[in-house]
This record gives sequence, structure tokens and C-alpha cells, in this order.
Amino acid sequence: MTTQIIGTPLPRVDGRAKVTGAARYAADFNQPSQLHAVLVSATVGLGRVTGIDTAAVERMSGVAAVITHRNAQRLPYRPHKGFIDPAFGERLHVLQDDQVRFFGQPVAIVVAGTLDQAERAAAALRVTYSAETPVVDPSDTRATAVPPDPSSHAHADKSRGDAVGAFAQAEVKVDIRLDIARETHNPMEPHATIAAWNGDRLTLWSKSQFVVNEQAEIAAIFGIAPENVEVICPFIGGAFGTSLRTWPHVTLAALAARHVGRPVKLVLNRKQMFFTTGHRPRTLQRVALGATRDGRLTSVIHEGTGETSRYEQFVEALVSATGYMVSCPNLSVSYRLVPLDSGTPTYMRGPGESSGMFALESALDELSYALRMDPIELRKRNEPQIDEADGKPFSSRSLIQCYDQGARAFGWSRRDPNPRSMRDGRLLIGWGTASATYPVFYAPTRARVRLLADGRVEVEVAASDMGPGTYTSMTQVAAETLGLPVERVEFRLGRSSFPPAPPHGGSMTMASVGSAVRAACLEARRQAATLATSDNQSPLRGVAASDLEWRGDRLARRGAPAAGPSYAEIATRYGRPVQADGSTQPDPNVAGRYSMHAFGAAFIEVAVDPAVGTIRVRRALGAYAAGRIINPRLARSQCIGGIVGGIGMALMERTAIDPRDGRLVNAHMADYLLPVNLDIPDIDVLFVEEHDPHVNPLGVKGLGEISLVGIAPAVANAVFHATGKRLRNLPIRIEDVLVG
Ligand code: MOS
Repeated sequence: MTTQIIGTPLPRVDGRAKVTGAARYAADFNQPSQLHAVLVSATVGLGRVTGIDTAAVERMSGVAAVITHRNAQRLPYRPHKGFIDPAFGERLHVLQDDQVRFFGQPVAIVVAGTLDQAERAAAALRVTYSAETPVVDPSDTRATAVPPDPSSHAHADKSRGDAVGAFAQAEVKVDIRLDIARETHNPMEPHATIAAWNGDRLTLWSKSQFVVNEQAEIAAIFGIAPENVEVICPFIGGAFGTSLRTWPHVTLAALAARHVGRPVKLVLNRKQMFFTTGHRPRTLQRVALGATRDGRLTSVIHEGTGETSRYEQFVEALVSATGYMVSCPNLSVSYRLVPLDSGTPTYMRGPGESSGMFALESALDELSYALRMDPIELRKRNEPQIDEADGKPFSSRSLIQCYDQGARAFGWSRRDPNPRSMRDGRLLIGWGTASATYPVFYAPTRARVRLLADGRVEVEVAASDMGPGTYTSMTQVAAETLGLPVERVEFRLGRSSFPPAPPHGGSMTMASVGSAVRAACLEARRQAATLATSDNQSPLRGVAASDLEWRGDRLARRGAPAAGPSYAEIATRYGRPVQADGSTQPDPNVAGRYSMHAFGAAFIEVAVDPAVGTIRVRRALGAYAAGRIINPRLARSQCIGGIVGGIGMALMERTAIDPRDGRLVNAHMADYLLPVNLDIPDIDVLFVEEHDPHVNPLGVKGLGEISLVGIAPAVANAVFHATGKRLRNLPIRIEDVLVG
């Protein structure tokens, strides 16, 4: 019996738990005798706390403690080397001094018997400050751009040939500047942590995309052994990168629980989630392209600047894709950071590439009009044969197939290339396209498998699932590898005591965790076979491994008509479950030989009302080549989510900052615009078949990020096609269409 489970559209195995409310999120794990904590956030953008009137609040009903920098435990904050240093080590040491580094920074925490009591007390707490004017705008003349720290060597400037000289000589030129607004993740589920101490042992039920890092980091902050910290997070209600790091509220929940000697629950409100849990950094970019009249690039210059905080550098791959997306002998990319008086940004939905590719793909579209050439044809003329950034072959690259199959499905050949040429009544119709790409990340991971005597199988990894369907896809990998129906497999994640996994981000979960699950299942089979052939009672005693074969869950002598014992029978005879760990990591020889990326092409139709400037996306299609697709139903759903995020980036999302004090003026869901159902058209997703034997044992490239990457430039390119107006700042707003 061979089971074909990978590649089938299995519905979510956790779907019923989610829709019935049985799935438990961090804030659902209420503890006996738990108290509630509420943060008090700074109302100045820079300065010092000069006074906190705690006495009045301490007398309020139900209040158990008011913790400030004056009475908070001094925490050792031992150095912690995170998965990606330094971005995963918290440098904001909360309640340890009187400094205010950004608007909204926590300055106190109030603990009370009920949430209502804690909220009332937090609102009543009077804090005085000495305030200075913060610098919160990267284009502010007082702001200074600096190169990334040398430890971020991947982000150093890179060049080949003579880009500046070639640009000066080019027959056709485009030279543009682009500005993408700061964005805030805004998942549905708020950040939440319940902390409970038992002596020196700490349990955290905490929203996290990276439970083993949260365990290690909190242990380092409190100076205790990592084995004394357990982080539990079986479900995540969306995160988009905001829960990759361990933000200050996690430390504060643990600090407060220790302070009051009771379990403490801390849930951030929507406003607080704008200030202290990261954001997509605002970016300022310049792209200059030089080309011959027949559309061959002779020069590419890409300069990118991102905002960061003063106390940490956050780096992302803003200009990295440019070097491998196009063939060009002369190319120069550079990346700078502007430290600001704000919280540290973090990874958000296709971090780096989604912002950088907006710039490159907008510039290529502009060049296509300057050349009077179809934008897809322009990309074909500049398609590289190898990765010219590092001289390596691609493990696989199907960008042109994505364009061809996507264009056919979208009906691109019916497009009139002239701007303002397509109409529907009084609406201007525009079709735009852009490339998508994202690196294939694959990191060391371990998994554990238990074959139980009752025929069931348990699989455990300290992975997370923020929505793409990790429970389901891993169940498929385990079931297929073990030759079992999916009903017999129980996959568990979200516990730091399980075997360690990399962050649930960077589109690396399927590749990393999937490969480890497969390895653990193969190891469990090997061990089961060893037991079956060394057992005195076993009919297979002494049979050589090479003479054995698995038929589903039964072991048999190769070619023999009768099947031998099943996993359950082996485990029963053995007297305990057959347990095996498996781990995988990138093969350095392969990883060093190939350039590994996923590719895609986005197609967008917009309708613009020229009278009032409204822009509606009417159709969206993404064609992706991302290696093997484990579950087409989940993959499609994930890509739809990414495309929706791209539409938000293009047309709505912007975190607005008051330059006077760094206050975020739209820190709530009424004014921070996100796409809702009425903003979203029918979305079409297609997967280009791709077999990549190099990327990892499963042949998957990852899907989370790439589906967002090309959407914003495709929308902007469609808006130009509709209106003849080139808009280079995101989000594109009604007034941008109307003015000028
Ligand atoms: Mo994703 S931004 O790596 O969670």
C-alpha cells in the first residue's frame, strides 16, 4: 500500500477546533488565582520620567501592585544570541531606568484582581516627564543614515561593473525615488502572555512564532536556566512577523508575576500593539535603470534606506533581490539605516523583498513604457541564466513560466498597452504586472515521532502555526512517510520542550519542519524494523534490512506474500512506544553551490473612478513557482492571504506619525486602513510545476512571503496603466490620483 497524501488538498485537521472555539490561544490559558496586568505607556517621544504618583493608585480597589523603574526587580539581561543576531536579542531593558526612548514605551505596569480594575488604575496613574523633541522621520534633516553594522555582512553594499558610468552612457534611462510608509502588522489576535512562577520555574502561555527563542531569551533576561522556562503556544491568531521576537511585554508579564507572587495575565490592547511590537520600517529608495533601445539593461542602481531605532539596528533584505532578478553587467546596490526615536521595526509580511521589489518592479515598468515595450517582454530580455550576484546557478528558476502561465490565465494579450486606453463606462481600467521572489530558507530542525501500541502516531516539534496550516501539512508529511492514513497521526507544536525548530517565519516552516518530520518518521521506521528483526518471537528475526520492505504500516520480507507486524504490533511486543528523533539541516555543499529562490508573477486589474479618485482592485492573479506544493488547498489559501496583504500595502496601510512627539496618530482599527471583504476581488492563484532536487529533502521552497511580494508594484503599475499617473509612494491614496 502506497499512500499518496502529500500533494492532496486535505482540509485543515485543526479546522473543527478553530471554528468551535476548542483551539486555545495564549490568553485562553487562564490560571488559578491569576491577576491582571495593564501597561502604562509613555506619552512623550523622548526624555525622562521625572515622577510617578503611585500612592494614589495603589489605594484603588483591587490593585495589587504598581511596578515602575523605581521598584522593579533589576534584571540581569544576560547576553542572548538569538537565531538572527542582533535582531532577536532585546536591547530595550524595560523598567530598569528612567529613560524614555520612544512614544508608547512601557513606563509602568499595574497589577490588579480584574482586568477592569487594572485598566482603571493604569488610566489613573499620573506620570510626569522631562521631554525632548524626538526625531521620527527618516527624511528629517536631523536624521543621519548609517551603514548597517558590519555583523550584518549580508547587507553590505554590492556592485559589479561600473553602474554609474554605464548609467551616464545609457540610451534609455529611468531614475526614480520611492517612499513606502511605515506599516503595522495588526493581526487579529493581540499579543498576550500569561506568566506563572513555581519557585524558580516559569511557565509562559505566550503568543509566539518562535517558542524556543522566547524560552532562551526570557531565561537570559531573568538569569535562570533555559530548562526552567517553558513557553506554550499551540495556536496563533495571525502574526505576520510581529510575534517572531520576544517583546517587552513578555518580560513584563514575568516580572509582574514574580513581583506579586501570583500568575499574571497581560494582554496588549490594539493601541499598544502599534508602539512596542515592531512594524514594517518606512523605506526611502532610489532605482536608476539604464538600457539599450532594444531593452537590454546596461545599468542598475538601487539605493535603499530603512528606519530603525536608536537602541537597535533592524536590517532586512531591502535591496538584495535586485542583484539576482535581472541580468546586467553593471549593478550597484546599497543599504542604509536611519536610527530614530522609535521602537525597533521588525519583519513584516515578505520583509525586505516586498519593499525592495516595489522599487525595482516599478522602475522596470516605467522603463517598459519608455521603451514602448511590453513589460513581460522586457523581463524576458533581461532574464539571467545564473545568479549574477554571486555567480552561482539557480537550483531552479521558473520566473518566465510564471509570466507565461499567469499571462495566459489573466488574458494579458488582450491588454491595450497605452495608458488610459481601457475603459468600463466612466471607469478607467488598468492592468499591471510585476515579478515576485523570495529566498528559500531552510534551517536546522529536530522532530520526535512516537509509534504507539494502539496504532496511533504522535509527532512533536517546537514549531508554531500562525495560520498557514502547519498542523495539516505536517500531518500529511508524517502520514505519507509512515504509510498511514492521516487520522492515525497527531501532530503537536507550540511547546518549547518539544524538539527545537527555527522561527515560524521567513517562509521556512514547510522546508525545515517538514524535512525534520520526514527524517524522524524514517528514523522511527528504521528503529521499528530493528526491533522486529531482533525480537525472538518475530517471524522476521534476523532478516537483513535490505530484505525488508514496508507495506503501509506493516513490515514484510521483500517479495513475501504475507505482510509482517505493524507499528502497533511491534510497539506492543516491545512494551513501549517506538520513539525516534530525526533532524535535518542544510547540506553546506549544496547550499553553497546553488542560488535558491522562489519566483512568481503577479497580475492586477484596477478600476479607477477619474471623478473621485477611488481605486478598486477588480482582479488579482498570482502565478508562483515554489517547488513542491504539499497541500494545494492550504497553499492557495495562504497565497490569497498574501495577495490581500499586498493590496493593503499598495492602497491602504500606513502608520501615521506626529512629527512633534512621535505619537502614532492612527493607532486603532478605525484609521489604520486594512482591506476588508469589500476591498478584495476574486483572487486567482496558480502554481507552476517545479521540481527542485536541491533545496531540501521535501523539495519545497516556501510560500508565505512570496505571494505578497509582487502585488504592490503590480497595483501601482496597473494604476499607471489606467490613469497615466505614476505613483511611487505607498500607500497610493485617492488624493494622489486626483492631484496633479
Ligand atoms: Mo514572517 S514576516 O517572516 O513572520
